[in-house]
Amino acid sequence: MLIVKIVFTCLLIGLGSAVLQSRSRQIFSCDDVLNKQIALEFNASQTYLSLSVKESWKEELGHAEKLIDYGVMRGAKVEVPALMKPDHSKWGEMSVCEVLELSLELEKKVNEHLHEIVKCANESKDIQLGSMIEDEFIDEQYETNKFLAELLTKIERNTMQLLQNGTQVSICDGYGLTLVDKELLKSN
Ligand SMILES: *[C@@H]1O[C@H](CO)[C@@H](O)[C@H](O)[C@H]1NC(C)=O
Ligand SMILES: *[C@@H]1O[C@H](CO)[C@@H](O)[C@H](O)[C@H]1NC(C)=O
Ligand SMILES: *[C@@H]1O[C@H](CO)[C@@H](O)[C@H](O)[C@H]1NC(C)=O
Repeated sequence: MLIVKIVFTCLLIGLGSAVLQSRSRQIFSCDDVLNKQIALEFNASQTYLSLSVKESWKEELGHAEKLIDYGVMRGAKVEVPALMKPDHSKWGEMSVCEVLELSLELEKKVNEHLHEIVKCANESKDIQLGSMIEDEFIDEQYETNKFLAELLTKIERNTMQLLQNGTQVSICDGYGLTLVDKELLKSN
């Protein structure tokens, strides 16, 4: 009886690990979208670094690293992109509001592309990839976009000026980029 039990247990363990192995060995078919996402995260991080918005720089780098680690773990053909040189010439003349608008635009691209990965995961029935992106990226991305949009509105409201013809415009002055960095730090 005991021997039968042992043999049976061994069989179960063997079966279980075979199932696990075949699952983790599932072919990865979303290399291109994964690599594009890695490139988008690096591009955003590089832009933030050039603007001295260090919190966002680290955050985007963290995203890129996480995607690379995930790709390696899944056996994807991971590509690390060449970094572009951000166009510093414009930064000096930009108001904080313009910088926030640029950030929102970058985040929007990053976010839109996350949905491309989910689409690919769905099409190739890669449930693990789809839920990883949804659980670990999409929610956070939503929070980041909301935070940036709210900060932009707040600064615009605080810097309203009445023109002679009675129109109100927001001039976005008096705020440095360090404020953005500080607010981001607080929000984390
Ligand atoms: C990379 O970042 C720059 C801003 O530094 C932006 O203009 C450009 O659209 C970004 N490229 C992509 C592919 O997101
Ligand atoms: C995933 O695929 C199913 C059909 O297989 C479809 O109904 C669903 O809308 C797809 N979801 C996404 C996010 O593409
Ligand atoms: C008031 O002046 C500003 C700047 O000159 C202009 O953009 C705006 O259209 C004007 N508003 C009205 C109601 O005339």
